[in-house]
This record gives sequence, C-alpha cells and structure tokens, in this order.
Amino acid sequence: MSEIVYLNGEFMPLEDAKIPVLDRGFIFGDGVYEVIPVYSRHPFRLAEHLVRFERSHQAIRIPNPLTDAEWTRLVQDLVARNAGEDQSVYLQVTRGVAKRDHAFPKNVKPTVFGMSNPLSTPAGETVDGGIHAITTIDYRWLRCDVKSTSLLANCLLRQVAADADALEVVMFRDGFLTEGSSSNVFVVKNGVILATPKNNLVLPGITYDVVVELARANSLPIDVRPISEAEVRSADEIWVTSSTKEVLAVTTLNETAVGTGKPGAVFRRMHQLYQDYKRTVMRQAA
Ligand code: PDD
Repeated sequence: MSEIVYLNGEFMPLEDAKIPVLDRGFIFGDGVYEVIPVYSRHPFRLAEHLVRFERSHQAIRIPNPLTDAEWTRLVQDLVARNAGEDQSVYLQVTRGVAKRDHAFPKNVKPTVFGMSNPLSTPAGETVDGGIHAITTIDYRWLRCDVKSTSLLANCLLRQVAADADALEVVMFRDGFLTEGSSSNVFVVKNGVILATPKNNLVLPGITYDVVVELARANSLPIDVRPISEAEVRSADEIWVTSSTKEVLAVTTLNETAVGTGKPGAVFRRMHQLYQDYKRTVMRQAA
C-alpha cells in the first residue's frame, strides 16, 4: 500500500502532493504541527494534541482551519488509509501561499497537510539498555512552547547529538535544564522525580503530562520546579519523553554514566506504568 497523505481537502499518494514554492511554510517556516501516536489504530491522547494544536495556531495567529471534529475525522481517515497498526500521524498548517513579505498576507488560505507513517516504538534493547545523550546550550528562541515548524535550531542541535553517536541533547539555558531537541527531560534524584515547569522555554509535552499524571496517581514522589545544571549532572536517573520515544532512560551523558549506567528503578517503574496505561486506554477505545 503506498502512503496516502492529505493536502488541502484531498487524499492522494505522497508523490502527488505538491505545494507552491511561495508557501510560507517553505519560505519562512511559518507554520505549526502536531505528531500524534496511534496504537492499534487508535490515536493516543488525541484531544490533548488538538488542544495544543489550537494553542499553537493562536500563538502564531493562524486561524485554525479545521474544527476538532474535522481534525479527528482527518486523523481517522489517514490511519484507515495507511498501513500498520501503530502509526505516527503528522499534521501541519502553514499560513498559506503569498508573495514573499515578512508581514502577514491578507486573505490567504492556510495550507493543511497530514500524513501517517508506521510508528516503531522503542526496541526492547533501547528500553533495557538506555540511550546516550550529550549536553548543549539551548540557543533556541523564547517561544519554545509553540509547536512551530521553524525547527532549524532543533535540527542543528539534534545533529550535534547524531555527530556524537547520541540520540538526544539535554539542553541548558542560563544554568537550568530546558529539554531535548525533540523530547522533554526528567531527572530522578534520591528517589524523587524532578520535572521542568511548563513555561515558554519548553514544549508542553503530551507524554510529559502522562508521566506526571502517572507519577501522581501511583504516589511516586514528583517535584515540578526549575532543575539546575548541577542537579542534572549529578542525577541518579535522566529520562527523555516524547510521543515517539515514549519514556527512555539516558544512561550515558556525554562520556559519563548516569547513576549506575543502567536504566534505574524509578525509570523501570514508570516505563511499566506507561505501558500498562497505554494498554488500558487502547482497550477502552477498542
Ligand atoms: N517532538 N520537546 C520538543 C522540542 C519536541 O519537539 C517534542 C515532540 C517534545 C515532546 O512532546 P510530546 O510528548 O507531545 O511528543 C518535547 C515530536 C515528537 C516531533 O517533533 O517529532
């Protein structure tokens, strides 16, 4: 089955989807997006992704072109038309096509694009062995809470990790932890999970919310507060979370082992809670 995508009201094979070169997404990165994990053909936390999508539209002043009911239908149609029980749905809206000018064009129609790719959840060996991450300065802009397609800094930072054979960067701004290039970061110290506050310096992750909820629901000590660079560097455990990575343990930071160098006990508990939660939600949706 060839990949079927959605562009401006129509479904079509990926190779037929074309946009004008003056699309502001192409010219300026002037757009917003979402990535929604789909398990057993059921979108996970779709309502929450759509709330964040709406907030991103508002933040960059693009009128959201679809209602939540229409987005939901679009996601369901993409999932039905594409192969695989587990998928990763990508939605993108740009401001539209207009003569190049930084100021917003008038009377322009947003471009709406959607695709779905097979979702490969992290392999058992990645979950059991952990990942390698490196530390960097966070030099992104001051609206990291907006899920914008302007991802140049994130791409450059992710490549810094790739060049070091690492999967992610752990970033600091002014001596405090922010997040990864495409994931949120948690720390465990003396049995307490530390989570960064949701502010303009981090993306409010949907997976982050699930992890915080699961910790609270299962009486795992958790503290949401600014986390200093020194605390990260001396952490017992470091985790990264995202819709595609779920929860993974960072076992090497730069060239140094984190804690014992193996995924820690609190990570193993959280990973199990996350898998159980996923299964429960999917059973209810079925
Ligand atoms: N990235 N922080 C950043 C900068 C991200 O790009 C992402 C997600 C997250 C985690 O958010 P969530 O739990 O809602 O996936 C945090 C997606 C997966 C991406 O760009 O592909």
